[in-house]
Amino acid sequence: MTRHLIVVAFATFALAACGSKSPPAAPPTTPPVTDDEPVETPDAMPADHSGHTMAPPDAAPTGPDPTQVKTDLLAAETAAYNNAKPVFEKYCGSCHQKGGKSATAKKMGHFDMTAYPFGGHHVGEMSATVRKVLGIDGSKPTMPKGKPGSVKGDDLALIAAWADAFDASMAGGAHEGMPGHEEHQDGHDHKH
Ligand code: HEC
Repeated sequence: MTRHLIVVAFATFALAACGSKSPPAAPPTTPPVTDDEPVETPDAMPADHSGHTMAPPDAAPTGPDPTQVKTDLLAAETAAYNNAKPVFEKYCGSCHQKGGKSATAKKMGHFDMTAYPFGGHHVGEMSATVRKVLGIDGSKPTMPKGKPGSVKGDDLALIAAWADAFDASMAGGAHEGMPGHEEHQDGHDHKH
């Protein structure tokens, strides 16, 4: 027993010793640099590159990591959407979802909820538009078409919660590239 331990200890020591004895990696073969000769700048290198290098990498981030913030915003929005999804499907899917029995290109062009984030030309202002058509913002509801005002109570609250989460993501920059209100207005001539 004791002997065995000693052997193990010795073996470990031998290994460690062996490791430390291994020669350092062969230095890369670099051409000898002579002090008295100016180093020739390769032609491909623009002159203004000498002297200063690329911007130094950012110092350790202060405050919350912006990428993480966006990820959290999107996660919250997706969770809110998943809660509201059955409501959207029940009341809106027939006209605004691919395969819906009354879905037409025109309706889908306005609002396509086949996949999330939604499509259609309202995408960047989706929350405001949905609030409006459902009367959440105080407007007279216009959707679901034919039965405006039929989404209410808990169902309406789920959609309102999603709209808030969507706005938070938008404000936090988590929907970069999604056309916002300004771009949408620009050169846009659709008629309701
Ligand atoms: C019976 C079919 C039908 C149903 C159901 C329906 N929509 Fe629509 N939706 C339309 C049509 C048609 C339009 C095109 C504009 C119009 O004719 O008023 C439209 C347009 C829209 C628009 C764009 C509105 C605008 O001002 O441009 C939004 C947003 C929208 N619908 C959301 C919804 C939501 C949310 C639901 C579910 C609560 C829903 N719709 C249910 C048919 C429907």
